Amino acid sequence: MNDIINQPLPKAYRAITEETHRLGFTMPSDAQTCALLRTLATSKPAGRFLELGTGSGLSTAWILDGMDSKSTLISFDHDDALLAVAQKYLGHDERLSLVRSDGADWVYANKGQLFDFIFADTWHGKYLLLDDVLTMLQPGGLYIVDDMLPQPNWPEGHQEKALVFIEYLEGRDDLWIVKQHWATGIIIGVKR
Ligand SMILES: C[S@@+](CC[C@H](N)C(=O)[O-])C[C@H]1O[C@@H](n2cnc3c(N)ncnc32)[C@H](O)[C@@H]1O
Repeated sequence: MNDIINQPLPKAYRAITEETHRLGFTMPSDAQTCALLRTLATSKPAGRFLELGTGSGLSTAWILDGMDSKSTLISFDHDDALLAVAQKYLGHDERLSLVRSDGADWVYANKGQLFDFIFADTWHGKYLLLDDVLTMLQPGGLYIVDDMLPQPNWPEGHQEKALVFIEYLEGRDDLWIVKQHWATGIIIGVKR
């Protein structure tokens, strides 16, 4: 047993990775996290998927790879340059809606929506507006966050924020969570 991903990578993964490096984007999801996202995505046939924080579309590519043809994914980000990369390589996929929006604006405008799979990879749905986003999770739905182990790019005081966030998730009676001390530190929650 080891951590090597001995399975095919999503088609666009290498090209998106190269453009991401060229842009100097320092917060892309790592490959192990992405492989987990793809595996879990496959457990939700005809699912409604939400990604908060598209970046350049790295995790988006893996989630799409795991989804079946009847599933749909909404992914938003506020950064035009990053979204342009995702659009270039993934925009042809009719299951995907790429949205340019501030996180708070998107969450407030979409409060009634329900999802089977939420990957919260920006401030909103993790450190901001968490209750609003967890309300969007269907019973049986998956809530996934990464970067829960200390990261080199964490600003001063972020460790404390992360601990408060973890304790809050542990205390919710509508979620079962698993904390994985693996990759960048993953938490998987399932709505009860
Ligand atoms: C950790 S990165 C996402 C990485 C991406 N999932 C990937 O696989 O590469 C966080 C993203 O949140 C976006 N972001 C930060 N603040 C935001 C805000 N207020 N509204 C929307 N997006 C925001 C950033 O532009 C960045 O792309």
